[in-house]
Parts: sequence; structure tokens; C-alpha cells
Amino acid sequence: MRGIPSPATIYEMIGGADTIRELVTHFYDYVAQDPDLRPIFPEDFTEIREKQYAFLTQFFGGPQLYSETYGPPMMRARHLPHPVTPRRAKAWLSCMERAMDDTGITGDARQFMLQRLTLTAHHMVNTPDDDAE
Ligand code: HEM
Repeated sequence: MRGIPSPATIYEMIGGADTIRELVTHFYDYVAQDPDLRPIFPEDFTEIREKQYAFLTQFFGGPQLYSETYGPPMMRARHLPHPVTPRRAKAWLSCMERAMDDTGITGDARQFMLQRLTLTAHHMVNTPDDDAE
């Protein structure tokens, strides 16, 4: 098939469930080490890994795992209890890029995913940076 990758096929292009699983594992390993992100996440990443696995699966065109289990995504609303600052959005995206490196997600699929994740990450911002933080 030729042409611009569409969200309905990204999931398959990158290798489906195994790839998303690996991506999410690497991603939260980086989040756990990030000084800006660590404090707003729970001690135990088991549940958030599972939710993110379900979310990214459906976000990139796989089965609707997140909605089936947790209901409508409403991601911005779900992030409101957590202070998402511009700096944290940048850190989140940096963890995701490194996780993609580790998972071997390259080329058009990577570009497409990063574009969508960047838009979504900026949309999650709900608190200004506090330079005193
Ligand atoms: C912009 C920076 C972001 C920060 C700092 C951030 C932070 C967080 C935090 C602190 C939680 C709650 C963890 C918990 O207590 O269980 C969370 C939940 C979640 N985040 Fe983010 N997030 C960001 C962006 C994103 C993006 C871009 C996505 C999707 C592409 C996303 C997907 C999710 C999902 C699926 C959950 C679980 C929601 C639920 O079912 O409760 N996040 N995030």
C-alpha cells in the first residue's frame, strides 16, 4: 500500500501489540528517572503502564482497548488532577522519543506518532511552569 500513513494502520505498521508493550515499558522506565515527571506519578507504575498500553493501542488504530475497559478517554479531563506544565510536556515527549529509539520505531510511522503525541501532550498542559519549582 502506498501513500500517507493513516492512524488506522500505524498500529500494524509498527508491529502491533508487542511493539506497543515494549514502547510503554521503556517509556515509564524513563519517566521513573525523570526529575520533573517522577514526583507526579505513583510509586508503582503497573496500573498506568496498563492504561497507557490500552490507550496507545487504540490511539494508533488498534483494538479499542482503553474505551472498552475505562470508558471514554477524555484525556484532558483525566489529567486535570495532575499538574501538567509545559516543562513536563517536553519531558514526557523526550521520554517517548527515547522509548521509540529503544523500541526501534523509525521512519514515517515514528514521525506520524510523534506529531500526534506532541499535539496531545500540549493539549494536556493545565498548569504554568513555576520557575521556583
Ligand atoms: C504532557 C505531559 C503529560 C504528563 C506530565 C502526564 C502525566 C500523567 C499522570 C500524572 C497521570 C496519572 C497517573 C496515575 O496517577 O495513575 C497520567 C495518566 C494518563 N496519561 Fe498522561 N501525562 C502527559 C501526557 C499524556 C499523553 C500525551 C497521553 C496520551 C497520548 C497520556 C496518556 C495517559 C493515560 C492513558 C493515562 C491514564 C488515564 C486514566 O485512565 O486514569 N498522557 N498522565
